[in-house]
Amino acid sequence: MKDFIYYAPTQVVFGALSEDKTGKLVKQYSGTKVLVHYGGQSAERSGLLDKICRALEAEGIAYVKLGGVVPNPRLSKVHEGIELCRKEKVDFILAVGGGSVIDSAKAIAFGVPYEGEVWDFYMGRAHAEACLPVATVLTIPAAGSEMSNSTVITNEDGDLKKGYSNNLCRCKFAVMNPERTYTLPNYQTACGVTDIMMHTMERYFVNIETMEITDSISESLMQTVIYNARILLNEPGNYNARAEIMWAGSLSHNGLTGCGTGGGDWSCHQLEHELGGLYDVTHGAGLAALWGSWARYVYDANPERFAQFATNIFDIPCFADYENTALAGIEAMEDFFRSIHMPTNLHELGLDLTDEQIHELAFKCSFEDTRTIGVFKQLNMKDMEKIYAMAR
Ligand code: NZQ
Ligand code: ZN
Repeated sequence: MKDFIYYAPTQVVFGALSEDKTGKLVKQYSGTKVLVHYGGQSAERSGLLDKICRALEAEGIAYVKLGGVVPNPRLSKVHEGIELCRKEKVDFILAVGGGSVIDSAKAIAFGVPYEGEVWDFYMGRAHAEACLPVATVLTIPAAGSEMSNSTVITNEDGDLKKGYSNNLCRCKFAVMNPERTYTLPNYQTACGVTDIMMHTMERYFVNIETMEITDSISESLMQTVIYNARILLNEPGNYNARAEIMWAGSLSHNGLTGCGTGGGDWSCHQLEHELGGLYDVTHGAGLAALWGSWARYVYDANPERFAQFATNIFDIPCFADYENTALAGIEAMEDFFRSIHMPTNLHELGLDLTDEQIHELAFKCSFEDTRTIGVFKQLNMKDMEKIYAMAR
């Protein structure tokens, strides 16, 4: 097991009607003027936004609202939020929504106390020393941003989607009511499930010898998510299935499944972020479209690891050689993606890419051929190009 630091300071308030506690929680963390940040329509339509505002009013907490965050949240909205917060002297940011809203909230929180351009953090040109407190009322289990130290923003100028990680932006609290996810379209539920699986698999597929406790946690998490995702296909209003997936979403990305693994591989996420930046695809669906091609490209670096995955997640008997077991596991995973109506290639994702477009994706992902990605198998620009091409 490799050395690690596990830091997950977010207070989780989980359960039915938990959003009623939001006002008290903001007070507990000394918020006096709040930016209530939200997305397109869902939080307004469901009445959640009004409920949150009433909970703040009940505690005498002033607030301003800023909606309109889109999936693959944009830098222009972040700039708008920074300006509003400065004008209104906001001292606390509350994200009501999913990963996109939380990430936009985190970016605004970094931007308000910073004199320079907030995008510098995402480009690695500066490191944030300060951040307004952020918290969330989560409406979709997927990105895990409610407990992660990351924010991912798309700069429309150049179609660049970039992440920035810094413990300062970890949510002070995350309110999670599984009932609030009943209104999710099946497609968004499935994209969320995929992302949760992928946050676990990115950390699982590494080349180190022993990490038994972390393996057990990860394998149990993946089995639980698969089992409950199948239930939700027929019973979208099943509270327990929603609850299991919601909690798994946080655990898959709060660092727990990475303890002792050296941090993880993250190739699929890097490859997907280019799809998100250039073609605005839904994050989870983009990951599903790429994973099988990545897996087939890299599994021979350690077929035993893929065989363990096949056996422990999909009950595939271990064949005489690891290779066949590994390949059967990859197929089983793709079957699962298909069963929840996720794409397993770029065509099914709605993208029919030319060779030039494939090259552009790899060129951008490799930072113009200056970096490699991945640890399970290190990938250079040519490797990335091959994986994108395999995924066609
Ligand atoms: O905008 P509204 O109308 O709210 O609709 C949203 C949006 O269209 C809808 N939705 C959310 N909750 C709903 C609902 N619809 C009905 N009922 C509800 N309860 O779902 C759509 C997707 O929302 P979004 O916030 O984009 O989803 P997700 O949580 O998957 O976030 C995706 C973003 O997170 C980033 C992704 O790259 C992507 O930009 N990620 C952030 C990470 C992090 N900060 O740690 C890690 C992840 O790997 C990921 O990269
Ligand atoms: Zn993700």
